[in-house]
Amino acid sequence: MGMEIFEQVDEYIRDLVGSEDEILKATNDSVNEANIPPISVSANQGKFLQVLAKICNASNILEIGTLVGYSTIWMARALPKGGKLVSLEFEPLHAEVAKRNIDRAGLSNVVDIRVGRALDLLPKLKGPFDMIFIDADKQPYKEYFEWAMKLSRPGTLIVADNVIRDGKVMDPDSPDEMVQGARRFNEFLSTVSGVTATIIQTVGSKMHDGMALAVVN
Ligand code: SAH
Ligand code: DHB
Ligand code: MG
Repeated sequence: MGMEIFEQVDEYIRDLVGSEDEILKATNDSVNEANIPPISVSANQGKFLQVLAKICNASNILEIGTLVGYSTIWMARALPKGGKLVSLEFEPLHAEVAKRNIDRAGLSNVVDIRVGRALDLLPKLKGPFDMIFIDADKQPYKEYFEWAMKLSRPGTLIVADNVIRDGKVMDPDSPDEMVQGARRFNEFLSTVSGVTATIIQTVGSKMHDGMALAVVN
């Protein structure tokens, strides 16, 4: 079975329950104008994050890895009045484009983009967050998860993107640094106490990949 059917079903689901408004479309398109890699979550994955934020009743969300703010907007739209989302981004250009997108979405009072290395910014944050989305560089995913636990309370949902990488995570000898970062993270997740965790595979318009979901006990 080829990936075609997964792409078609992804489109089918998107047309039913994952459609983007003009703001999300323009946000996704902003990667092209600025020559930024097109690695935002897909529309259905964005909707999935939004549903998760609602399930968590989140009023305080942390994101690690903003890019142009696409996943940010999906999640921020789940927040109740007065809710906040902090998003960490290393690249000033990404943060600048993201801020424009967030402005256009009318979310500049809700979303706080901080520019710098996540590992430098995380110690300055005050938790607890209700939901944390890890989606920055993959090599320090384990450390991001440890910080996420420190910034959590019982019931916090921690989500980590890109932990399957086309199944390459099963290969201990993979030369791909993203794969090695995901492998190291997944193995850590399997041993860490204090969370109830699983990993789901994702298919569709993006490559075959996966998200780890962990609830803090
Ligand atoms: N969450 C976004 C995609 C994020 S892509 C979405 O789905 O819409 C990963 C982002 O992490 C990139 O913008 C990259 O610049 C940023 N990043 C890479 N290393 C980082 C670091 N050390 N600290 C913070 N952000 C980092
Ligand atoms: C890459 C990063 C991501 O967060 C993603 O969802 C897909 C790809 C990357 O760096 O290649
Ligand atoms: Mg990702």
